[in-house]
Amino acid sequence: MKIFLDTADLNEIEKWLKTGILDGITTNPSILKKAGCTNPLDAWKKIVELKSRYTPEPLSLSAEVFCDDPEEMLKQARSFVKEMNYPGLAIKIPILGTDGTDRLAVIRQLSLEKIAVNCTCCITWFQAFAAAKVGARYVSLLYRRILDCGLDGLGMISKTRVLIDQHHLPSEIIVGSIRAAQDIFDVYEAGAHIPTIPPKFLPEILFHKKSVETQKQFLCDAGVTKKPQS
Ligand code: E4P
Repeated sequence: MKIFLDTADLNEIEKWLKTGILDGITTNPSILKKAGCTNPLDAWKKIVELKSRYTPEPLSLSAEVFCDDPEEMLKQARSFVKEMNYPGLAIKIPILGTDGTDRLAVIRQLSLEKIAVNCTCCITWFQAFAAAKVGARYVSLLYRRILDCGLDGLGMISKTRVLIDQHHLPSEIIVGSIRAAQDIFDVYEAGAHIPTIPPKFLPEILFHKKSVETQKQFLCDAGVTKKPQS
């Protein structure tokens, strides 16, 4: 299981980079807005700079285009790659434009240019499979948004995984739109390679009361603390 952080909050990113648990970071325009970033390129550069302080590994960083026209998407993607010059960069391309037409040709072209694409906004297994088939390095299924549509979120993930494995496609499934700690385990069990996690859920999934209880017992037996009165 790889672990990505779904945030542009530099304090949170630094906190979790220090632990060494991260494999990557995903952002989107809404996440950048929430973190108060007005210039996306500056925000991504700050993330890369922060990352370099803690690891030489080229952790994955997803940066989304902020346009709708296919030609404009290609231009923006190429300019982000040039400006960032970062081997871990993946360009997020939505599966559909606002007119409802697909952006598969954009994904295809970028993958031919050896630009890693993270195809985002996938709701159905067929969208995700199609993006993987045309060359997306990552396909992002948005778990809770799938549930919002009354669809089977875990089924969409598992079907995508079966197809990627059957066709031996070199794509990994990122699952975003995680809105509860339990979602992380559920989507992983369903076949996601990578849950992308809002930072607030990491302490929750790391916690277990029995671990705390055991540590208390050890410190007590070591004579560091007193046994609590019962
Ligand atoms: C997709 O890019 C992200 O995971 C995004 O934050 C979606 O999360 P939400 O559906 O909770 O807004």
